[in-house]
Amino acid sequence: MHNEFDLDKINLASAPPTEEPARQYYFMAKARKLVGELCKKAGRPMTACGITFGCQMNAKDSEKLLGILERIGFTVIEDESADFVFYNTCTVRDNANQRVYGRLGFVHSMKKKHPDKRVALCGCMMQEPSVIEKIKKSYSFVDLIFGTHNIYKFAELLVTMYDSDRMVIDIWENADQIVEDLPAQRKYSFKSGVNIMYGCNNFCSYCIVPYVRGRERSRNPRDIIREIEQLAAEGVVEVMLLGQNVNSYGKNLEEPISFAQLLREVEKIEGIERIRFMTSHPKDLSDELIAVMKQSSKICRHLHLPLQSGSTRILEAMNRRYTKEQYLALANKIRREIPDIALTTDIIVGFPGETAADIEETIDVVREVAYDNAFTFIYSPRTGTPAAAMPNPTSDEEIRAGFDRLLKVVQETAKSRVGRLQGEVHRVLVEEINEHDDTLVTGRLSNNTLVHFPGDASLIGKLVPVKLTQAQGFYYIGEMV
Ligand code: SAH
Ligand code: SF4
Ligand code: F3S
Repeated sequence: MHNEFDLDKINLASAPPTEEPARQYYFMAKARKLVGELCKKAGRPMTACGITFGCQMNAKDSEKLLGILERIGFTVIEDESADFVFYNTCTVRDNANQRVYGRLGFVHSMKKKHPDKRVALCGCMMQEPSVIEKIKKSYSFVDLIFGTHNIYKFAELLVTMYDSDRMVIDIWENADQIVEDLPAQRKYSFKSGVNIMYGCNNFCSYCIVPYVRGRERSRNPRDIIREIEQLAAEGVVEVMLLGQNVNSYGKNLEEPISFAQLLREVEKIEGIERIRFMTSHPKDLSDELIAVMKQSSKICRHLHLPLQSGSTRILEAMNRRYTKEQYLALANKIRREIPDIALTTDIIVGFPGETAADIEETIDVVREVAYDNAFTFIYSPRTGTPAAAMPNPTSDEEIRAGFDRLLKVVQETAKSRVGRLQGEVHRVLVEEINEHDDTLVTGRLSNNTLVHFPGDASLIGKLVPVKLTQAQGFYYIGEMV
């Protein structure tokens, strides 16, 4: 990246700097020496593996961690038998937590056979004190635990871990600063996520994210633009701007700037062909944003607009701060202004007190908006959130039945929406060789729909015109023209 330090020029005999990111580069130099010694001792390269749960924020954080591991001499592999494994965890629903405990059982058996193996845990789940207690008690083989606010200190934490023979735990309640210019690995050469803000101030009553990711903090627009310019110089054509609520970006900066203004700046960057963003809270979606999207040839024709519920009563209990009618008015306005846009959403079923009649209201909205896709979740109580203390008289069977009814409508409407481009020619960004058939490649339309068509690896990362010959449920089969 831009302002990286040369690890060879760092004097390890001196005390570590106190300023960031200089301090972390000092510890990277130190860690690199350590890893070099481990390689020599073992007579082979040291390997590292990162397993990521949860959302795009976590995926992005993992790329930062892997970037540091590469920089200090680890060979990154996708196999938990590696010499160093980290699990970047999610706690948005209980099943995310259960999957992590499952992996820990598995990795423990590996560590028993290879005691030099090191295991780290990080991410949202680690911000919950009850989780730390459980790991200390039942998973004492774990070597390092850190949270969401101090991942920039990873190099320093690694050095502490290798110097210690006990579990190292470093969890902060809040973030102290945004540290720029640390290395990051990229999973794809042609597309990249870019953090524009961290944390969330919305406190939806069911959601744990504000508690584990802290208050909303926007990155300085100049740092964001500089990062994207650098990505473009490295061949990236698509960026995804990341934040829990991108529509409130920039409001708390010293020089306030709106998300729409930021988009205008990103659009000017040469080489960037596609701009995506996640996630938009309906309450903050401005007319200015709709106007910027409408005029833009780079901002993708896709908006993820979480509904959560179509019942105004439940929305109020969820603290979403919009009504069914306000949401519908917004969705209709967006459809009117940008007719070719794909709308997707998130819906929770089984929020405390939700009845069959409430679900019917949600189904109404799904029918009216006709989402291209919707992610449906069964409500999972999260300790410490207001909703977790609300009584829920609805039985699991009723919740399941409501969920199945909703899913059916979601699938029907999505199918009819997705197929509407059949026969047309659209640009596809090719992402990879098809998983099931290596004579095909897989890419995405601007509106995020997947397209499979005959092609080879030379097309990966390119934007090519494709005729969408056949709609098949949620994707298209096509041919390059
Ligand atoms: N910031 C994003 C969402 C982050 S969490 C937003 O506001 O849209 C992703 C999704 O997980 C949410 O949209 C919600 O649908 C779901 N979710 C969050 N907490 C949940 C819980 N306790 N139980 C079930 N689903 C939940
Ligand atoms: Fe959670 Fe609501 Fe914040 Fe999204 S906006 S992260 S659902 S609290
Ligand atoms: Fe999960 Fe944390 Fe994302 S709780 S959804 S990984 S912000």
